[in-house]
Amino acid sequence: MEIATTSPGSGTTAPRARLCSDAPSRSLDGRWRFRVSPSLRAAPEDWRVADADGWGVVEVPGHWNLQGYGSPAYSNVQMPFPVDPPHPPDVNPIGDYRLDFAASDEVIAHRRRILRFDGIESAAEVWLNDVLLGTTRGSRLTHEFDVSDVLVPGTNRLAVRVAQFSDATYLENQDMWWLPGIFRSVTILARPDGGVDDVFVRADYDADTGAGTLDVSVRVDGEAAARIVIPELGIDAPAADTLRIAGVEPWTAEQPRLYDAEVRTHAEVVALRIGFRRVEVRDTQLLVNGAPIMLRGVNRHEHRPRHGRVYDADVARDELLLMKRHNINAVRTSHYPPHPDVLDLFDELGFWVIDECDLETHGFEHVDWRRNPSADPAWRDAFLDRIRRTVHRDKNHPSVIMWSLGNESHVGANLEEMARWAKTADPTRLIHYEGDRASRYVDVYSRMYATHDEVRAIGEEALVPAPFDATPAEVRRRTLPFLQCEFAHAMGTGPGGLQEYWDLFETFPRHAGGFVWEWLEHGIAVDGPDGTSRTLYGGDFGEDVHDGNFVIDGLVDADRNPRPGLLHYAAVIAPIVVGIDGARTRVRLENRYDFRDLADVALRWTRTVDGEVVASGTLPTPPCGPRSAAMVDLPDECRTDAAARVADALTVEAVSAAPSAWAEAGHVIASGQDVRDGRPVAPAPAAVAATADVVGAARFDRTGGGLQSLGGLAIAGPTVGVWRAPTDNDRDIGDDELDLPSYAERWRAAGMDRTVTRLVDALTEGDAVTVRTRTGTPILDSAVDARLRWTALEGGAVRLDAELEPHGTWITEWARIGLDFVLASAPVGVDLAGYGPMPSYPDLRAAARFGWWHLDADELTVDHVRPQESGSRIGVREAAIATEAGTLHVSSLDAPFALTVSRHSRRSLAGAAHNWELTPDGQTHVTIDLAQSGVGTATCGPGVLPRYRLPARPAAISLILRHEPASH
Ligand code: GAL
Repeated sequence: MEIATTSPGSGTTAPRARLCSDAPSRSLDGRWRFRVSPSLRAAPEDWRVADADGWGVVEVPGHWNLQGYGSPAYSNVQMPFPVDPPHPPDVNPIGDYRLDFAASDEVIAHRRRILRFDGIESAAEVWLNDVLLGTTRGSRLTHEFDVSDVLVPGTNRLAVRVAQFSDATYLENQDMWWLPGIFRSVTILARPDGGVDDVFVRADYDADTGAGTLDVSVRVDGEAAARIVIPELGIDAPAADTLRIAGVEPWTAEQPRLYDAEVRTHAEVVALRIGFRRVEVRDTQLLVNGAPIMLRGVNRHEHRPRHGRVYDADVARDELLLMKRHNINAVRTSHYPPHPDVLDLFDELGFWVIDECDLETHGFEHVDWRRNPSADPAWRDAFLDRIRRTVHRDKNHPSVIMWSLGNESHVGANLEEMARWAKTADPTRLIHYEGDRASRYVDVYSRMYATHDEVRAIGEEALVPAPFDATPAEVRRRTLPFLQCEFAHAMGTGPGGLQEYWDLFETFPRHAGGFVWEWLEHGIAVDGPDGTSRTLYGGDFGEDVHDGNFVIDGLVDADRNPRPGLLHYAAVIAPIVVGIDGARTRVRLENRYDFRDLADVALRWTRTVDGEVVASGTLPTPPCGPRSAAMVDLPDECRTDAAARVADALTVEAVSAAPSAWAEAGHVIASGQDVRDGRPVAPAPAAVAATADVVGAARFDRTGGGLQSLGGLAIAGPTVGVWRAPTDNDRDIGDDELDLPSYAERWRAAGMDRTVTRLVDALTEGDAVTVRTRTGTPILDSAVDARLRWTALEGGAVRLDAELEPHGTWITEWARIGLDFVLASAPVGVDLAGYGPMPSYPDLRAAARFGWWHLDADELTVDHVRPQESGSRIGVREAAIATEAGTLHVSSLDAPFALTVSRHSRRSLAGAAHNWELTPDGQTHVTIDLAQSGVGTATCGPGVLPRYRLPARPAAISLILRHEPASH
């Protein structure tokens, strides 16, 4: 086996469209004989003929290193072995696969037969009945072999030798797990004489006339005549004709109108679903059917925690439905063509798709791009082979609006040739490649992680003439639409700054939106010694080279459970904006759909005062075309009248009026709110004398000045805190300040994680005790001075007036400024009046609505694979924090606070590498933050935007605290 070439595979038939045919086929998926050798030299020579009875067994499709043969490994840009192209390392698992199968009579009845592999990582040599069929390169691409003369009636022996690493590895250095094997299906296809071997549908739509034009090129076997049949359009015509169809309904991601069609010869019927649409660039805008579109996108990898990149139809459909429910309308297939069936789902459900070729040579970045295959003629054919296989397989899908040459492969003539080939083969789609910064051979200007400032500048540059000395390439670039193929890195608690990106995308006509990195986390699940499932990441399998948890960076976890980031993204990209005027007389609806009006949208409103719904109703949906706005009057009951104690909140929701493929009727698409703060009423002072130890129901620890108990509830605190358990973003350096250490390091250097509190004094005056403390940082002289005045109130409550003041010089911004309490028993749940129900931070809050929310113990924080700060609820006016021992009621008399309630201390969160390493300490950790820093997206992109940072500053709040004993 040759695994150090620079050529594409060999022996395959010409790439062609994935077709749904009535010709017989037989799946070879199932249990195959399998054996792995540590290197090619060590791999036995008789592997094709040896008796395989003693071999092991693997599931095909599957990855062998997730089935007990070796273990997975994760690295991002770094190559896991020396950069020595085209050589893989000597230590290189070689998997030998064997399958003896009976060719079905139906297949054997046909003279022509094909053996198809939909995905083998990374290089394979394929033998049938001891005849060498050829080799494959391009792990996520389809390879077909003509086995007409090799397949025999009765038993056939298929032998496939797969190298985990090969020359192809240099072209497939995507940021993901190394998962070798035959991981997509294997099929034998009968090819009827006179059958339909390939079809290329071009279905254009002219928005000015409403007419469609259909061009269907068919490659038939022999001389057979092919017809195109579309019953719904009354079409039954020779396929070779160009057909003009008046009054066709176009396909868009918003209204994915498909026409069922067939291409027929006398020997074969191929079923197709045709969507009419036109993709073009005009005046810096990305247009479909004549209208500018906005890509509300995500980058989608294929991954399942126990199966890696092996496809599961139900999981794929469910996750696309989940995307639709969260207003996502676009997918970049990062960084390879997905399983072929996913394209059918994109067409059917409606997604704008950037279909990306299986190509990434990112590893060469570590050697300054020396010998990068993109620029080396020796690899030219391999590059071209990859784009051909991509385009041909998926060319009939209306959802695909762009071909992407690949990811992060720098620059070079081979990329340019790919672009030229794709443009010639398929002029109906645009070419995307982020690495072509000069935009010489692409149709869109694409960037990843450009900061907000750059996105603004890119928007502005298209509004003014190019400078007189601009190069022709620069002039051209300024005419192209702009998109972010990756932005807002959804790793850990985050991503912050989404709203600000979206506002820019909406502001500049050139901007066509972007794709969050990334849809899903690639955790690998294994059973721990106690039998519970554990999620692992890079380094957990003992890899010498790895990138830790950088692969755990999704809007959903590996099981597709939404992270808060998904909920906020859904609100940011909502296709409807609901605004309520200050007097609550009218609602302004902004329709951000590019094609749809709001006829399918219903409006409903609810007015809630102090947790009670006082009025609710529906509103008529006004006529409102795409990209326009309309006003609706609100009824009188929406106005505020009586003064609320906590708040008076009016919520208007835009919901789906009818069920859709992805949601029930009543599904909330967008909402808007008007919230009026109430006037909190404090209980009357209890008029009991305070002592240094006792203020009404509160007992204090004389030595430290903090609470010991409140109405019998054991509680310690408050401690002044300015630190948080670093998030992934806090641990990384933002692109906006590359010369500074990460915030986690700055905080550590400032000693914020190890503050020490000194009791200054505790003074008793009448019914109040005033405790003064100084919370300082070790090594340095920075501190926060606190003045905490406690008074007893009637009904067992106490009032705490807290004034916090920075002292000395703080060398960095704070994570937060707040009061920390520890309750002696474990949390049971929280009821709060504040913004929720999902966690939010100052720069990650779009979905949070004011309400009276209940949170179960499991909803308090987010179970990130790598533990970190999470779970804050902002704008809280009052909360009841239930523990096993009783409930602590906290309410604010003035400013709202951010509440975080956790089973874990910050120190234990910061010290654990995995969630399964954490053991709850049986206490309830309560934080009342008076101010917080944002979270940013520093793991890739900018850190916290300046407006969301928190320099040292004074803060004050007046709280009422009360214990309500547990009722059991
Ligand atoms: C990008 C890359 C992605 C991923 C991301 C970080 O540069 O294209 O594949 O590595 O960074 O998670």
